[in-house]
Amino acid sequence: MSASATSGSVRQPSGSAGSQSSIPAITESTLYSTTSFNFSAGTSTYLPLTDFSNEQLAFLWDQVGPRQTAAITTTVSPTPEPSVFPKPGNLHGLVPAYLQEVADAKLLDDFLWGVASAAFQVEGAVDAEGKGPSVWDLLPHRWANSIADNTTGDITANNYYLYKQDNARLKALGIQSYSFSIGWARIFPFGRGPVNAQGVTHYDDLFANLMDNDIKAVVTLFHWDTPLALFNSYGAWTSEDIVEDYFNYAKYVITRYDKYVTAWYTFNEPQYCNWRFSTYPYGTILPDYNGIGVGGGLRARFLCGHYTLLAHATVYKWYKEVFGGTKPMTHKTSANYILPNSSSAADAEAVTRQYDFDIGWFGGMWTNGDYPASLKSTLGDLLPTLTADQMALIKGSGDFYALDGYTANYAAAPPNGIAACAANRSDPNFPECSITSPLQPDGFPEGPNADAGASWLWSTPQAIRPFLSFITKDYFPTVPSIVVSEFGFADPCEASFNSPSQILWDLRRADYIQSYLDNILAARVLDGVNVTGAFAWAIYDNYEWNSGLGTRFGLQYNNMTSQERYPKASMFQFLNWFQTHGTLGSGAANITAPVGKVKRESAFGQL
Ligand code: BGC
Repeated sequence: MSASATSGSVRQPSGSAGSQSSIPAITESTLYSTTSFNFSAGTSTYLPLTDFSNEQLAFLWDQVGPRQTAAITTTVSPTPEPSVFPKPGNLHGLVPAYLQEVADAKLLDDFLWGVASAAFQVEGAVDAEGKGPSVWDLLPHRWANSIADNTTGDITANNYYLYKQDNARLKALGIQSYSFSIGWARIFPFGRGPVNAQGVTHYDDLFANLMDNDIKAVVTLFHWDTPLALFNSYGAWTSEDIVEDYFNYAKYVITRYDKYVTAWYTFNEPQYCNWRFSTYPYGTILPDYNGIGVGGGLRARFLCGHYTLLAHATVYKWYKEVFGGTKPMTHKTSANYILPNSSSAADAEAVTRQYDFDIGWFGGMWTNGDYPASLKSTLGDLLPTLTADQMALIKGSGDFYALDGYTANYAAAPPNGIAACAANRSDPNFPECSITSPLQPDGFPEGPNADAGASWLWSTPQAIRPFLSFITKDYFPTVPSIVVSEFGFADPCEASFNSPSQILWDLRRADYIQSYLDNILAARVLDGVNVTGAFAWAIYDNYEWNSGLGTRFGLQYNNMTSQERYPKASMFQFLNWFQTHGTLGSGAANITAPVGKVKRESAFGQL
């Protein structure tokens, strides 16, 4: 894509987008004004959230510090997409099919598929058009060396200005659906209070443009970018106050965009309370909120999980019972397939405990609404108690299961035994009391490893087939259908190459995708699992959290300087798979025989 050639056009909202005059505007003119923030003085106090002025917004941005601005700072009109893309040829063809049993099998037309992204990881435009800072704007700026390559998300793929070209690309490739998230602090710069008209206009136009391109919108309300003001005010996810603020935000977004959305995710991976939220720099960069202690840890993790779950269920109930929503809604779940390291009873118990802490923790919607017994008995007062009313709220609060399942692990009981570990909060393996490993019991790696910035990720695509059966038949038999809401791979060292000729033939990712999709299909047609969707992470290279810009998951290479995107071999592997087994969307540039066409969800221009 050649973005620079067309930069400079001014945003023109489509249809009647942005015409709601009751929304107070937060203008940029006075944004960077007077207050000077001493963030080191803020480690033990809360900052009140009663003033929603431009000056307070500037105060929040001072907390983040100086930010980078992209070369392109206005919405780009798309240039025509190529009718044929450069792609793998005769000397190294795509990876052949893995499972002959499903070589001729077809997906049903109901299968939802596409590529995925998240607001913080792709949008850039960090402080543009009245946005407030999120905690993820703060961390790379203020938490020294917390990001592997010391990059920030200030610009990343600049999708905030390039979305029209990005959507044109999705259409040209024939991709049916796009899974993306909304930035809470773009809509509510302070997390609550006044709505930011410019942020709303942006998303109005994004939805309108997706509809114009016949691309289905699958939307996540929250993908980890908590408004910073809610940390300052009450410690964000460590306080029950977050439930009401999230609920208000969700109601606004759902009310405005529901008619354009094919499926809703309230949260991306609530387990994020585990390995991200609970490890933020509490007591140093951020205050030690609500008695969680320096470093956050287990207390922060399970408070966060608790309020996330209640926020999800509150929104679900309102959506179905008050708003009358009919689109499927759930939250995404991060989990990996777990195998026992041996045939011992202890290792079998380690597997069960690992599942309880990974998926059982947030699985109340498929059970009686409560936490698993193993969590309650192990965690004691670290785990807030759910009341009968809360359990009733959580139970049934999902229409389908959404699995972000990237890899697999072997689990073993700790050497001192599960019981001793579970009784001792200082045990290094507490609270799961299972030790996971990417090595098979014979010591050989379970598959090829990913980039060093995603060292947790091993290519184990055959794991998805039994995992889909396990979730829907064994662990949660009440699940009616399951979507693989994210799967993907980061080829080693991609960021150390600097030319497309070195990057584009991404063999490990292409291999992973072919086998992964074959195994999803086998789960559906051979094992009888009602798997109804699959989304590859990611639309293109982007900001990979603590690994920064240096770890790449894209099915398109993104040159972060020129912002040109080039489909990698893995993208053609992905498209070829859907050409063979399913339905390609309209406009597929290099696909000769698209089967069917994506139907528009609704009329254009009525936002
Ligand atoms: C997250 C993405 C992340 C990806 C790869 C997923 O769990 O939702 O934000 O980039 O994993 O690490």
